[in-house]
Amino acid sequence: MTNTRKSIHGSWSSRLAFVLAATGSAVGLGNIWKFPYITGEHGGGAFVLVYLACIAVIGIPIMMAEVMLGRRGRQSPINSMRTLAEEAGVSRRWSWLGWSGVLAGFFILSYYSVIAGWALAYVFRAISGTFTGATAEGIASIFERLTDDPERLMGWHTLFMVMTMIVVARGVRGGLERAVRFLVPALFVLLLLLDGYAMASGAFDQGLAFLFKPDFSKIDANGVLIAMGHAFFTLSLGMGAIMVYGSYLPQRASIAKTSITIALLDTLVALLAGMAIFPIVFANGLEPAAGPGLIFQTLHIAFGHMTGGVVFGTLFFVLLVFAAWTSSISLIEPAVAWLVENRGMSRVRASVLAGVATWLFGLLTVFSFNLWAQFRPLGFIDIFRNATVFDLLDYLTANIMLPLGGLFIALFSVWVMKRGDSLDELGMRDAFGYRLWRVLVRYVTPVAVIIVFLNVTGMVDFSGLLGLSG
Ligand code: PHE
Repeated sequence: MTNTRKSIHGSWSSRLAFVLAATGSAVGLGNIWKFPYITGEHGGGAFVLVYLACIAVIGIPIMMAEVMLGRRGRQSPINSMRTLAEEAGVSRRWSWLGWSGVLAGFFILSYYSVIAGWALAYVFRAISGTFTGATAEGIASIFERLTDDPERLMGWHTLFMVMTMIVVARGVRGGLERAVRFLVPALFVLLLLLDGYAMASGAFDQGLAFLFKPDFSKIDANGVLIAMGHAFFTLSLGMGAIMVYGSYLPQRASIAKTSITIALLDTLVALLAGMAIFPIVFANGLEPAAGPGLIFQTLHIAFGHMTGGVVFGTLFFVLLVFAAWTSSISLIEPAVAWLVENRGMSRVRASVLAGVATWLFGLLTVFSFNLWAQFRPLGFIDIFRNATVFDLLDYLTANIMLPLGGLFIALFSVWVMKRGDSLDELGMRDAFGYRLWRVLVRYVTPVAVIIVFLNVTGMVDFSGLLGLSG
C-alpha cells in the first residue's frame, strides 16, 4: 500500500538537503577522532578491512532499512515503530526498539559532547598560536592539562550542549541545512590539505601500509566486534537518528542512492583522516595506540610546523566542532520528536529538557579523565581491565546497543514488514537491487551480528575460521 502519512515536524526541502543532513549526522567525531585511534589500538590494516566490509554488507543495507522505516512511519522512531507494527499486524511492543534507540542516543551524546568540548577548547588554543613550533611532548602536555581539569572540561561540555540545544530547538530546516551545505565541502578540502602535508612528512608509505596492509594476527575477536560496532557508530545506525531523519525525507527520493552516497562520503572522510594522521604519528615516533588523545596530540605537530599553521589549525578544529555539532543534533532528535508528539511540548522545551538531562549524565565522562581516572568499574573482566566509565559507555553503546538495534531493525524490515510495503517504500525499480538488499538484511546482517557477538563472549569460537589471533 502506498504511504500517505505526513510528519508533523516538517520535512527537508529536497533530497539533497536530506543527503547533507544525514551526511552531517554520519560524519563526525567518529570519523576524525575515533576511527584513527581505534585503528591505532587494534593494529591497523586488518581492522580497517573488517570495518570496510561491515560498511558494505551491513552498514549500507541497514541504512536503507532505517530510512525506509522512518519515511514510512513519519514520526519519532518510537511512534513509527508502533505504527508500522500495527500496519504489519504484530505486537505494538516493537516501539521498544525506538526506546532503546533513545537511550543509546542519550548515552552517546553524553560523552560525545565532552569530546566535542575538547575540540572547542582546541579552537581557542590553535587561534592563539599555542602550538607554533611546539614539541611533541609540549603538545601532549597541553592535552593532559586540559583533560586533568574537571572544571574546564565541564565548561566546554556545557557550551557544546547549549549549542546543540539551540539548533535542535529551531527545528528541521532552520540553520541546520545551511550549515551542512558549507561544512561538508570545507572539511574535505582541509583534510586533503593535511594529507598533502602528511605525504611530505617522510613516513607516508609507512602510514599507508599501517592502514591498508592487513595483518590478521593483530586483530582478535574483540577487535572484530569493535570494527563492526564502529561501522554502526560512524553511519549513525541502530539508534533511530537516521530513521528520524528519514521521516522528514520527501516521498519520491531514492533511498538506495542516497544511502550509498552517504556511506561513501562518510568512509572517504574516515580514510582521509587516517591517511593524514598515521604518517605524522610514524614520522615523529609517536604511539599509534595512544588512545582517545591521538588526534589532539599529533595533528598539532603538523600545524605547528607548516606555514599558515595557525590559520589551518584553527580552521580544522572549527570544522571538527561543526562535524560534531551536526551529529549531536541527530543524536537527540529522536527523543525531542517523541516529547513533542507524545507530551505536547514545544520544540524549545523538549530540547532543553533532553539537553539538560544529557548534560548531567555527561559529567560521568568528564570525571573519567581526572577525578575517576583510576576507577575501573568492570576491571575484573579481562577486556575491561583498563576501562574507565567513559570507555565502558562507549563500548556499551557502539559495540552492543547499536549492533543490537541494527539487528532488530533488520529483522523487522524483512521478516515482519510485508514485502509489498518495503518494496513500495524503497521504490526500487531495479528488481535485482531490491533482492540483493533483502538477502543482505534477511540473512547476512543478522548472522554476522550474532556470530560476532557470540565470538566475543567466547560462547562460540570462530576465530580459527576467520584466521584471527585470539
Ligand atoms: N556518526 C556519528 C559520528 O561518526 C556519531 C553518531 C552515532 C551520530 C549515532 C548519531 C547516531 O561521529
